[in-house]
Amino acid sequence: MCGIIGIVGSRPVAPRILEGLERLEYRGYDSAGMATVSGDGIGLRRTAGRVETLKRLVAGSPLSGQLGIGHTRWATHGKVTLCNTHPHVVGQIAVVHNGIIENFEELRRTLEPRNLRYRSQTDSEIVAHLLYLELLDDPDPERAMRSVLERLQGAFSLVIMNADQPDMLMVARRSSPLVAGFGEDEMFVGSDARALVHLTRRLVYLEDGDWAVVRRESIELHDASHRPVERAVRHSEVQDEKPDPGEFPHFMAKEIHEQPEAVTYTLHRYVEPAGGELKFPEFPFDARDVPRMSIVAAGTSYYAGMVARYWFERLARLSIDVDIASEFRYRDPVLAPGGAVLAISQSGESIDTLMALREARAGGQHVLSLVNMAESTIERESDVTLHTAAGPEYSVASTKAFTTQLVVLACLAVSWGLQRGTLEAAEASVALDALARVRAGLAGILADTGCWDECVGQLARARDIIYLGRGSNYPIALEGALKLKEITYIHAEGFGAGEMKHGPIALIEPGTPVVVVAPHDKWFDKTASNVAEARSRGARIALISDRTGIEKLAGAATWTLPLPDSHALTAPILATAHVQMLAYRTAVTLGTDVDRPKNLAKTVTVE
Ligand code: F6R
Repeated sequence: MCGIIGIVGSRPVAPRILEGLERLEYRGYDSAGMATVSGDGIGLRRTAGRVETLKRLVAGSPLSGQLGIGHTRWATHGKVTLCNTHPHVVGQIAVVHNGIIENFEELRRTLEPRNLRYRSQTDSEIVAHLLYLELLDDPDPERAMRSVLERLQGAFSLVIMNADQPDMLMVARRSSPLVAGFGEDEMFVGSDARALVHLTRRLVYLEDGDWAVVRRESIELHDASHRPVERAVRHSEVQDEKPDPGEFPHFMAKEIHEQPEAVTYTLHRYVEPAGGELKFPEFPFDARDVPRMSIVAAGTSYYAGMVARYWFERLARLSIDVDIASEFRYRDPVLAPGGAVLAISQSGESIDTLMALREARAGGQHVLSLVNMAESTIERESDVTLHTAAGPEYSVASTKAFTTQLVVLACLAVSWGLQRGTLEAAEASVALDALARVRAGLAGILADTGCWDECVGQLARARDIIYLGRGSNYPIALEGALKLKEITYIHAEGFGAGEMKHGPIALIEPGTPVVVVAPHDKWFDKTASNVAEARSRGARIALISDRTGIEKLAGAATWTLPLPDSHALTAPILATAHVQMLAYRTAVTLGTDVDRPKNLAKTVTVE
């Protein structure tokens, strides 16, 4: 949510701020803006459009100066308009903000006697006013910053520029992430490492509550109690990649097609390709003793957790809770002493997941995480982090992160099953062999380019689409529905197939598409009955199944989307490719902005 960048440079900063914003655009693309300080004071360029438009604006009306800040917005308070676009400027102060100032209305009320002129409806503008007013009373920038921070409630990362002090930036972080980087006689700050690694790899991550004065050659850090602190400077290993969809028309298509490779890289991190031994880092507990594990995550990552519950329960006989992170945090969960929490997150930055993790830590749990983006906040706050090797994911709709999460979770369930003595070595080896065949299975599905065509034509015209699955394929139905609704804006819902008759079946009308994820497994016959119930009410069935399943339901299915014969552990991973492609192709048919669907952003750092 919102990307921010700042540079205290020793040469012109505008082009580098624009480049940083391009790399940060996945955090929000409602509007974009930047400001620099030069001899003429603050130069401001903003657009209620994309970074591309901002670039054109700056090309037509260049900005000079060696101090600057930039912002890509995901709107929270205030519509997507020019006046709500950051930076917000009050006098000599310019502010960019990520997060939510929860008490901004109260602050506005307290300042009523000052008759201030607000130019936006944002929660962010108040920060610029507060700092401006503080500096009128006391020109010391650090004291002013301290006093402003003490008045703010909520989550924020802030980068603030003062035209009267063109040699420094003031920055602060509470919950929302912020990182600073050391250049040659220059300093950079940004929402995440991805915004900075093309400029420098020497990074310092601010901790919660930290604030700092950043000058060309130094950063003076203070903690939440305003005490000077040192934070470790580290060499970042984050991949420096300029987003490029290559030969594909969209990042989503590229990322879907990268899955055969991505799952293989990921698998080889955890399973020795030659001997098939499992290799995990040391955990702070013995898998035999852990009484229970809570999995916390959001969106697609939550569905990966739901699939994993079936695996951990069946293979490792481990009791698992799976929670939507934003619910876990506030429902006062009862946590088992010595238990573990596993936070799953592609970005490693979702604030709901981070907060759930902190809640679990406060409740005495061992903290594990599974993330794609290395060096993320969730990783830094975990006892042990497992990584997916999906590579950067740019499309808002998550694809390869999900399938690689499933691969890691499957390996972990097998590993813990062996350690806990609940899984025979022979069964484990069959499971690992099946995982090794996922690459070929996915590649085969993705190569069959015509199989979705007819079905997509109908989905694109539908008002409602229903997805059904049972067992470990039930979360794939949920994932299919989420993928479809977020990029096509068509109403879609996923249900456990057995739950249909308890209400959702009322939605079925003649012609309603029902996508059924039903490999020929132990749940198949039950699902087949649910298919018959839907069919007799006029539904059109898109059946995702293997050869046996397709043969058995040949009469009921309007469209068949074939899966290779697979193991129970890998069928959900393979079926995912079909639901991804259905969503992607339907979105392309409808002409939506596939990679940047409306109202969404890739990394969600507000609650
Ligand atoms: C859906 C999607 C979101 C994310 C969710 C969690 O396609 O991308 O639902 O899965 O916002 O994000 P992470 O995994 O980064 O915590």
